[in-house]
Amino acid sequence: MAQKIIIDTDPGQDDAVAILVALASEELDVIGITAVAGNVPLSLTEVNARKICELVKRPDIRVFAGCDRPMRRPLVTAENVHGKTGLDGPRLPPPTMTLQSLHAVDFIVQSLLEHDAQSLTLCALGPLTNIAQAMDQEPRIIPRIQQIILMGGANFERGNVTPAAEFNIYVDPHAADIVFSSGASVTVMPLDVTHQALTSPERIQAFRTIGNRAGSVVADWASFFERFDTAKYGMEGAPLHDPCVIAYLLEPSLFAGKQVNVEIETESNLTMGFTVVDWWNVTKRKANAMFINKVDAPRYFDLITQHVAKL
Ligand code: BDR
Ligand code: CA
Repeated sequence: MAQKIIIDTDPGQDDAVAILVALASEELDVIGITAVAGNVPLSLTEVNARKICELVKRPDIRVFAGCDRPMRRPLVTAENVHGKTGLDGPRLPPPTMTLQSLHAVDFIVQSLLEHDAQSLTLCALGPLTNIAQAMDQEPRIIPRIQQIILMGGANFERGNVTPAAEFNIYVDPHAADIVFSSGASVTVMPLDVTHQALTSPERIQAFRTIGNRAGSVVADWASFFERFDTAKYGMEGAPLHDPCVIAYLLEPSLFAGKQVNVEIETESNLTMGFTVVDWWNVTKRKANAMFINKVDAPRYFDLITQHVAKL
């Protein structure tokens, strides 16, 4: 039976690729997509989520709008990376499928209560506001979560939005704190791993060579954010962050990491959103996350390309 997942997301071109891979896979059953404010405001992320579903003729996927701001801080967005719409690059038509009327947080809560315990996985590709709000609203859901796989944080790579913090955790550190201290099974795809998952002209060309619409759109998205990231990091290509979450579900052997304790800085202005990773177990605090630090990049890009080819 296919693994049931909810994708919580702030699309974002890399979120979009992650969603496409999940929709292409027979091994995954996307029971809903929940949008959150992050890369751009919620009014755009929910529209983008619907555009992505329609791109691959999946208007049957239910899209829910969630929190329009972080729990305790003003929203910080990333138009400088993703463009004004969050999904700049190829032009996609405005969606015609409707947005679900239920709030994303209520959808997450209801789904976890309705499904068998430990049968539903949460894939988090943006700030953790929706998931933390759901945990706050209905703590009974926590032991029912099979696992949370999230893109966020950094250890040896440090920050991409401040010197100390990665974007998703920085935007809502209080939400991240709730998720990491919840006791749910958490797997983290930090910058340490996503900075190994770099696009290149050959990898972008491989998407284009597929010859379907999804392949050319993915190639255009990757070319769009590559311009910004290559200049910023001085890397050859740009990190394709969020599909790591879906790739981990499909092929965990592509990744390696270790169980560690992770705490979130929520007080210091200087290091707000810093993921304090006890990599060498110096504190003896209980491990609360599987922190990934290695990916087999060629196989990762092959897996994504093969899935996009199915669309
Ligand atoms: C994360 O921030 C967003 O800009 C990307 O979509 C990704 O989820 C990387 O720091
Ligand atoms: Ca994202």
